[in-house]
Amino acid sequence: MSGKAIKKLFALLFLAMGLATLGIASPKKQSNGKDPGAAAQNSNADGEKQKGKKLTLSEMQQSADPSQYVGADTCKTCHEDVAKGYDKGPHWKTTLAKHQGPQWQGCEACHGPGKEHAESADPSKIIRFPSLSAEDASKRCLSCHELGQEHANFLRSAHVKNNVGCNDCHSIHTPKIQAKLLKMTQPQLCYSCHLDVKPDFSKPFHHKVNEGLLTCSNCHNPHGGFLTHQLRSTAAQDQLCFNCHTDKAGPFAFEHAPVKTEGCVACHSPHGSSNPRLLRRSNVNLLCLECHTLTVDSAAPAIPSFHNQAQKYQACTMCHVAIHGSNSDHFFFKP
Ligand code: HEC
Ligand code: HEC
Ligand code: HEC
Ligand code: HEC
Ligand code: HEC
Ligand code: HEC
Ligand code: HEC
Ligand code: HEC
Ligand code: HEC
Ligand code: HEC
Repeated sequence: MSGKAIKKLFALLFLAMGLATLGIASPKKQSNGKDPGAAAQNSNADGEKQKGKKLTLSEMQQSADPSQYVGADTCKTCHEDVAKGYDKGPHWKTTLAKHQGPQWQGCEACHGPGKEHAESADPSKIIRFPSLSAEDASKRCLSCHELGQEHANFLRSAHVKNNVGCNDCHSIHTPKIQAKLLKMTQPQLCYSCHLDVKPDFSKPFHHKVNEGLLTCSNCHNPHGGFLTHQLRSTAAQDQLCFNCHTDKAGPFAFEHAPVKTEGCVACHSPHGSSNPRLLRRSNVNLLCLECHTLTVDSAAPAIPSFHNQAQKYQACTMCHVAIHGSNSDHFFFKP
């Protein structure tokens, strides 16, 4: 080989290496003629290659090749027990969506394309939820459920950020509570993780959650939202308390400022309290005097000097009765 030829060979070699590092040279061909999405699905389902790697949603959804789906009836032939629960639940309705592809219907809408699994009965060839992260598992559900205010914010909720997904509260195949497919009734479902709030609802004065008059989800959206503590809002984006305590909503000709600025929790403990009316303080005057100091050093007006706290002026709401706002009186003496 002449020197010139060797130089030429090296030049070509370097060029090839350069292209390879840039990732441009001879892309790996999907030469088996299969849908590349299906190939990705196959290699992911392969336990050997997977080794702890989790499927991303796009990987899971890539395989939309209709020939990879067998339909719910085929699944049912081998999974009779699961099929019974499925037929009782709401999800069979997805099979009515004939205008959509098979990836939106029946068992495979959740478990992914099942042809290979149905032929081999190999459990590694089907999506098993316990092997997915809470977020990935939830994304499969959200592909149908994320429309609408109730679920739209799930992916930024405190729940999914702390690895709590749909299946921690819902059970598709063996729900204890058929309505809404819940794992447990409220509030037990919530207490199973939020033990710290449980004592609040046993205090002498509390919202009757344990008694079944209200649920945690009346006030909180377990699926997340824009407000702090995943609180629900009213249609008017006002405080959630107005959903039930409509008489406090106003608008009033004379508003008591903190009701609007700080909200009900400025004065009330929303879960429960040792004090009547769920008040934060045992004596009403102590509550009021947190803001209405005797001197003028707060945003709230100081109480007049004749308000002798050793005397009848302790029981503030005896005189200032319309404490949530009044339509007739600047000082909230009457509604
Ligand atoms: C030919 C029979 C057969 C058919 C058809 C079949 N499966 Fe399976 N499936 C099995 C067997 C056997 C197992 C392994 C059971 C085990 O390990 O307990 C299994 C396991 C599974 C698992 C994992 C269970 C676990 O415990 O993690 C899921 C999910 C599943 N199948 C869903 C489906 C779906 C969805 C379909 C329809 C697309 C389907 N199967 C069709 C036989 C079948
Ligand atoms: C709405 C989504 C959804 C649909 C539809 C669905 N599954 Fe499941 N399936 C799940 C989830 C989630 C789990 C995991 C349950 C868990 O970990 O609590 C599961 C678990 C399973 C298991 C494991 C064993 C068990 O009982 O937990 C089998 C087998 C299974 N599904 C088969 C089927 C078959 C067959 C169908 C159709 C008849 C079907 N699934 C339809 C979501 C679904
Ligand atoms: C292919 C679309 C689709 C997927 C995927 C899906 N669902 Fe559903 N889901 C539906 C439909 C349709 C209904 C029935 C709605 C109705 O009856 O109005 C439903 C109903 C429900 C209900 C009951 C609502 C009620 O009012 O009783 C719950 C809970 C639920 N789904 C949770 C889940 C969870 C959890 C997952 C993921 C494991 C999931 N869904 C995946 C389409 C889907
Ligand atoms: C922290 C627990 C929790 C998690 C996590 C959770 N849910 Fe729910 N979900 C509930 C409760 C509780 C209800 C019943 C609310 C009620 O009755 O007011 C419910 C209701 C529903 C309903 C019926 C809604 C309606 O308007 O009637 C659907 C559908 C649903 N959930 C789907 C999902 C999906 C999909 C996910 C995951 C993306 C999910 N849930 C995650 C607790 C949860
Ligand atoms: C009457 C409405 C209401 C009900 C019912 C309710 N909450 Fe709350 N919850 C609130 C409000 C309002 C806050 C915010 C408190 C604050 O800002 O000081 C809150 C705060 C929280 C917090 C975060 C702060 C903390 O105290 O740890 C958690 C967790 C919580 N609630 C869980 C629950 C659970 C679980 C239930 C049912 C057993 C429930 N809530 C029932 C209104 C309610
Ligand atoms: C599987 C465990 C689990 C279940 C069940 C559960 N949660 Fe949670 N929840 C958590 C975790 C973990 C967090 C995030 C850490 C924290 O703030 O405590 C959280 C956060 C919250 C927050 C936000 C607290 C804040 O300070 O912002 C609220 C509100 C809440 N959950 C309400 C509920 C309600 C209502 C239910 C029942 C429908 C429920 N949770 C069921 C685990 C759970
Ligand atoms: C889902 C409806 C509902 C929501 C939302 C709600 N409440 Fe209540 N609340 C009630 C009911 C019903 C009662 C009275 C029944 C009982 O508990 O004895 C009550 C009682 C009270 C009481 C005690 C009244 C008394 O006479 O002792 C206070 C204070 C109160 N709520 C404040 C709030 C605050 C603050 C919020 C918002 C954080 C709120 N509520 C949200 C339904 C609701
Ligand atoms: C500035 C403090 C303060 C704020 C803010 C406040 N409250 Fe009150 N609330 C009180 C006091 C004090 C009482 C007790 C009045 C009495 O005993 O005469 C009370 C009593 C109540 C009662 C029981 C008696 C009645 O009037 O029905 C309810 C219900 C109530 N508040 C709901 C709310 C709601 C809902 C909000 C938010 C919109 C709110 N409160 C905001 C101080 C406040
Ligand atoms: C969280 C702080 C806060 C608490 C607690 C509070 N207030 Fe107020 N209050 C205010 C503010 C702020 C104003 C309005 C000042 C303004 O409009 O310039 C106000 C206004 C008033 C006014 C009308 C004064 C005027 O000149 O118009 C009265 C009367 C009053 N409060 C009584 C009470 C009583 C009684 C309580 C206890 C039940 C109470 N407040 C609890 C902050 C508070
Ligand atoms: C016996 C009836 C009575 C009681 C009890 C009472 N007040 Fe008053 N309050 C009044 C009267 C009368 C005024 C003066 C109204 C006026 O100026 O026309 C007033 C005025 C006020 C003002 C308005 C001051 C200003 O300059 O704008 C505040 C704030 C106030 N009270 C707070 C309280 C607080 C806090 C308590 C409980 C510690 C309380 N009041 C208890 C009768 C009462």
